[in-house]
Amino acid sequence: MPTLDDLIRSRRTHKAYGSEPVDPAILRELFELARWAPNHHVTNPWRFRVLGPESRQRLKAAADAAKPGSGAKLDRAPTLIVVSAKQTGDAEQDREDVLATAVAAYIVLLGGHARGLAGYWRSVPVLDSPEGRGAAQLPDDETPIGLLHLGEPRQEQRVPERAPVDEIAAFLA
Ligand SMILES: Cc1cc2nc3c(=O)[nH]c(=O)nc-3n(C[C@H](O)[C@H](O)[C@H](O)COP(=O)(O)O)c2cc1C
Repeated sequence: MPTLDDLIRSRRTHKAYGSEPVDPAILRELFELARWAPNHHVTNPWRFRVLGPESRQRLKAAADAAKPGSGAKLDRAPTLIVVSAKQTGDAEQDREDVLATAVAAYIVLLGGHARGLAGYWRSVPVLDSPEGRGAAQLPDDETPIGLLHLGEPRQEQRVPERAPVDEIAAFLA
């Protein structure tokens, strides 16, 4: 049984997947877990939309219209999840809610990894366009933070180097 430390260290970004979509029951487990992310004022800002065939097709068309050829990248994974943060218009709250949503997205990736799934957090600029937002059915008060890919792993991944602890942490007097 891997420890939490093992799982955090061994989670990797994958770009090749098997064709089987992730069981919706597993996705529900991951979204249930994500709700436990820390969240100032407990605003529950995170939103997860699992793309079906039609919404994926629409997002691909929007991506291709913005940048020809880029839509094909949306076929890499059998399960795609648009993650967005619900916003209130209060700048401080909105910033905190985007940060909390990022933590929730990481929980989905880490929980997926703990269940043997491969995952990938991708920035998809087309989600900021009206066409991309329309494809993902994002309401005006939500900010997209990424497109999560999930599926069966198909490749060993290289382990990207991390900066040493002494470079990133300081113990202040
Ligand atoms: C906010 C965010 C956006 C990312 N967007 C992309 C992306 O658009 N394309 C990409 O190849 N990787 C993207 N990644 C994944 C990183 O490239 C990856 O985490 C990094 O290379 C470290 O690899 P690892 O996840 O295997 O540890 C993103 C990660 C985060 C947290």
